[in-house]
Amino acid sequence: MPDAHRIPAADLPPGTVGRAGPWAVVNRDGRYAAVSRRCRHQLADLSEGSLDKDGCLVCPWHGARYDVRTGAMVAGPRGFLAYKGPTPGYTGLVRAYASVLKLRVRRALRRGDDVVVE
Ligand code: FES
Repeated sequence: MPDAHRIPAADLPPGTVGRAGPWAVVNRDGRYAAVSRRCRHQLADLSEGSLDKDGCLVCPWHGARYDVRTGAMVAGPRGFLAYKGPTPGYTGLVRAYASVLKLRVRRALRRGDDVVVE
């Protein structure tokens, strides 16, 4: 599979997020998943995000949370541009359009020493 995007499994221990080409790849306690890397809010690189205790992918800029199984934004951003903090109406607005415009989702599987995005 010459065009597959991959990441060494050693670089993706449980509870972490990594990058494989255009995909943010997560390891949720041994289960891998991949979503498109650009946050639906202001395009932050989600491969630099983190996983929370619920297994959601958290954007590194304003904390929007994504369900990596569906690509849906399950909690809107807290802030915009350089501001980080509560923005109740705005947060709801972003979440509303993100519910229509989900992240793309791909399967990610362990193959030998790598995790491969299909
Ligand atoms: S860019 Fe992701 S929450 Fe703002």
